[in-house]
Amino acid sequence: MNKTLKILVINGPNLNMLGIREPDIYGRKTYKDLVAFIQEAAKKLNIEVDVRQSNHEGVIIDWIQEALGKFDGIVINPAAYTHTSIGIMDALKAVALPAVEVHISDISTREDFRHISYASKACIATIAGHGFDGYRMALEKCKEVLATTP
Ligand code: DQA
Repeated sequence: MNKTLKILVINGPNLNMLGIREPDIYGRKTYKDLVAFIQEAAKKLNIEVDVRQSNHEGVIIDWIQEALGKFDGIVINPAAYTHTSIGIMDALKAVALPAVEVHISDISTREDFRHISYASKACIATIAGHGFDGYRMALEKCKEVLATTP
């Protein structure tokens, strides 16, 4: 029998404001809706998820470090820290767990400062512009990669 994969899903700053923040970009669904969506998608993929959100860079770095030995992979939307945080990139590199970066919006077609992603340098894939569905795609990607990892 296949073992159930454990994936840590980390959401960065302001994602708790989904539904309120810039609905033209991020939609009208709330953070609670996002968590429910991820849990439902994970269930269908037979993945156990722990879905977290923080507005604090250090907390996110602590969670990445603590994932070592506890989770098989990481799905991360570092939000604004995507474009600034060498600390998050280094933490992802340090634990070396398969990590997939997700963005609700398509950062490649937005302001220039969103085109740089430090996190992507430590991730096996980046999924952007698919709304909430990007998280399902990221979980699938993790599963696919982990299936071929000894
Ligand atoms: C985001 C894109 C980032 O540029 C932005 O700072 C966010 C959300 C997204 O999911 O589209 O907060 O990561």
